[in-house]
Parts: sequence; C-alpha cells; structure tokens
Amino acid sequence: MKTAAKILITGISGFLGWNLFDYLAGRFPISGTYNRHRPQLPPERAFRLDLGDPEAAGEIFRQLSPGVIIHCAAVTSPAACLADPELAREVNVAGTERVARAAAAAGARMIYISTDRVFDGKRGDYREADPPNPLGSYGRSKLAGENLVREIVPDHLVLRLPLMYGPPSPFSGSFVEFMREGFGGKTALNLFTDQFRTPLYVEDAGRGIELILKHPEMTGLYHLGGSERIDRAEFGYRMAEVFNCDPAVINPVRMADQPHYPPTPPDASLNSDRFFRETGFRGRGVNEGLRALKTATRRKTGN
Ligand SMILES: NC(=O)c1ccc[n+]([C@@H]2O[C@H](COP(=O)([O-])OP(=O)(O)OC[C@H]3O[C@@H](n4cnc5c(N)ncnc54)[C@H](OP(=O)(O)O)[C@@H]3O)[C@@H](O)[C@H]2O)c1
Repeated sequence: MKTAAKILITGISGFLGWNLFDYLAGRFPISGTYNRHRPQLPPERAFRLDLGDPEAAGEIFRQLSPGVIIHCAAVTSPAACLADPELAREVNVAGTERVARAAAAAGARMIYISTDRVFDGKRGDYREADPPNPLGSYGRSKLAGENLVREIVPDHLVLRLPLMYGPPSPFSGSFVEFMREGFGGKTALNLFTDQFRTPLYVEDAGRGIELILKHPEMTGLYHLGGSERIDRAEFGYRMAEVFNCDPAVINPVRMADQPHYPPTPPDASLNSDRFFRETGFRGRGVNEGLRALKTATRRKTGN
C-alpha cells in the first residue's frame, strides 16, 4: 500500500487543485505546486513548479520524493488553447511528459486528471472503451497527455472528469462564478439548451480521488462524472432555484445557432459505471451538489 506515501498535487492554485488540497490535506500527507499564483500556505506545503521548465519536474521529485503525484496543472481554458496551441502543447503535453518521466524514474504512482472534452460529443454517455475524438486544441492536448502518461508511467491512472462546480480557489473559479455574475445582473446569462454534460460537485472529485489513493490496485482509465446528464440552461434554472435567484434573467439559446462559437462537444456526458462498480461511489446529482455549494459558500462568507 502506498497510501502512507507523500502525495504531491500539481496546480493547487487552480480551482480543482485547491479544492483537492482542501479535501485531502487532513487525510494524507500532502503538498502541492503552483506556478504564477502562490497560495497562502506554509512553505513546506506549497512549491513553485513551472511545467515549461525542462528541469523543474525532476527537481521537485528529487526535493520531495512523492510516492504519488496527482497532475492537475494545465492550461485549462479551451479559448486560450485555441488562441495559443503552442502554449497548450508546451504545458499540457511537454509539461505532462516531464512530470511523467520524473514519476516513472522515481517509481511513483501518477494520477493524471483529464477531461470529458477528449470526446467529440456526437453521442454522449461515453464509457472508457469509447474512442476519443477531441474537437479543439485543449482536448487534443489533454488526450496527448493521457497517451504519454500511459506509455511512460507503469503505475498510472487516468481520471477523466467532467465540467465541475464548487467553491473557487483564491485565483480561479468554476463556471458558477459566471452564472453568479449573470444572476447579479453583471453579465448576460445566455445558456445553451443543446450542450449536455454530467457536472460533478468538486468535493466528489476529492472523494473519488481519496478512493483511488486508498486502492493502489486501481489502474488504467476511469470516468468520474456526476449522476445527472444536464444542459447548461437547465443547470442555470436549478441554480436559480437553490440560490433563490430570478430565473427570468436566463436567456436560453442554442449552441447550434451560434456560427462563431468555437467547436465544443454538444454531449460530452460521461458514463461512470466502471468507477461505481469498482468503488461503490457515484458523484451526486446537481440539486444535491448545488445545495452543498450553498452550504460551503455560507460557511466561508457567513451569508
Ligand atoms: N474545471 C473543470 O471543470 C475541469 C473539467 C475537467 C477536467 N479538468 C482538468 O482539471 C485540471 C485542473 O483544472 P482547473 O479548472 O482547476 O484549472 P485552473 O483553475 O485553470 O488551474 C490551472 C492550474 O494549473 C497551473 N498551471 C498553469 N500553467 C502552468 C505551468 N506552465 N506550470 C505549472 N503550473 C501551471 C496554474 O498555476 P498558477 O495559477 O499558479 O499559474 C493552476 O494552478 C486540469 O488538468 C483540467 O484539464 C477541469
């Protein structure tokens, strides 16, 4: 069992990494990396890692000797990857390769966080055996990262996560921040009725990864989505209901009617039966997740 091994999370200044760190820190010996945004954590918990530096991943393994690395850090905005595919390649592909080589050399386990955007979304309900076909440079770079991890690291697990929501990190939030701005009248809330996902409350990503850490025999490819397939507009209506906002500000629109919208999978819903079969764990549904978010927000802000 490697569960007592030190765990290193890359990208703890980001939305997922921050929430993972928050959830796992009381349970495992954990530290994390950031690049441009240093989180307010004790110095023995947070280390700078620039994935663009060819030496940095090897150096961090020499310094910290993690037994497990959870690789979250990436350029995550599909628009940024579309605008600068070279950056996506350097960070998401070459950077992942550097982490993978360092993990393999150290004999560490690597958990690579991937995305539902490796699929073209023509069908939905994707299982692990379904062939990926990413539409944009973000999805392509993440899929290339998956393939490198599979080739390089003997003890690896690739975890494809869907669209996530939850409390923001001090530097980066989820799409619910955009929705909050819309409900607050700061931005138009045009939400697609024809873009389907299986959104996951971010704490459930933490719970799923906790199980992975406790089960070193789990290897290969897993999907972990929420238990509901839902379109963006319906998500907005659910959010209005739970957070007592005015649903009338939602403007339901069709992605298919937006000629200039970047290529985006219409239905990237994940089938997570394999994860459920092997662990007994399923991500919660949207209303339950939103209620948990409301409670977490009240705890943090006192509102
Ligand atoms: N959010 C979602 O809904 C979602 C869905 C599916 C999969 N994922 C996957 O989950 C992971 C985390 O996503 P996220 O939403 O948490 O992203 P995020 O909020 O944009 O955070 C990205 C993280 O990567 C770090 N990073 C960026 N460039 C770097 C570089 N050159 N060197 C080192 N670190 C770098 C950032 O560090 P600094 O800020 O310090 O520069 C930050 O900590 C990604 O792998 C993403 O593909 C996310």
